[in-house]
Amino acid sequence: MTGRGVDAPASVGGTIGRAASSSMLEVTEVADRDVDAVVALWRACDLTRPWNDPYRDIADARLGETSTVLVGRAASGTVPDDAAAAGDAPRPGDLLATAMVGVDGHRGWMYYLAVDPRVQGTGLGREMVVAAEAWLAAAGARAVRLMVRSTNDAVLGFYARLGYVDQECTVLGRRLGDA
Ligand SMILES: CC(C)(COP(=O)(O)OP(=O)(O)OC[C@H]1O[C@@H](n2cnc3c(N)ncnc32)[C@H](O)[C@@H]1OP(=O)(O)O)[C@@H](O)C(=O)NCCC(=O)NCCS
Repeated sequence: MTGRGVDAPASVGGTIGRAASSSMLEVTEVADRDVDAVVALWRACDLTRPWNDPYRDIADARLGETSTVLVGRAASGTVPDDAAAAGDAPRPGDLLATAMVGVDGHRGWMYYLAVDPRVQGTGLGREMVVAAEAWLAAAGARAVRLMVRSTNDAVLGFYARLGYVDQECTVLGRRLGDA
């Protein structure tokens, strides 16, 4: 499945609130039934770390109105029947992409951007970023930030393609309590 060539609603820009749809993905906030699939996708994309419980990260993101996890499902009509019938090709409705979003009162942040490895490179990452930006803007953010692990610099070209530039900041941190 390529995910391209889909005739579907054109843009996520006007549909914010807490859900959006785009040409290849139906983007909504995560539901209880999605959580295991979200964690499986993050693991498949090597985004989890032993010191971060992904289930807790999802639960925490869902606690308030200013953060959530967005999930993108293959929009109906995006997966040709012959492709859907073949092997482990994605099917309409399958969860193919995620992004965690949150507003800290000033900036919007994006985490856990992931696309199913079977369909990476087909435009879904761009769609999820557009959906995440729209969610953040609707939630009041005037700018978006994200962090890229130094071990994942291969992804920098992707973000550059989408207009993201180095903010010339060094990120410092330390853990609090037993969190
Ligand atoms: C990073 C990721 C989300 C990108 O999603 P994707 O679906 O593969 O990317 P897309 O197909 O939407 O690419 C969008 C554009 O970026 C370009 N691009 C993608 N990866 C690129 C790279 N490494 N270098 C340069 N350009 C790149 C594409 O050519 C495309 O350009 P176009 O729209 O002008 O044709 C996906 O590869 C992924 O899940 N990676 C593993 C998890 C990860 O590292 N997440 C980021 C954590 S910070």
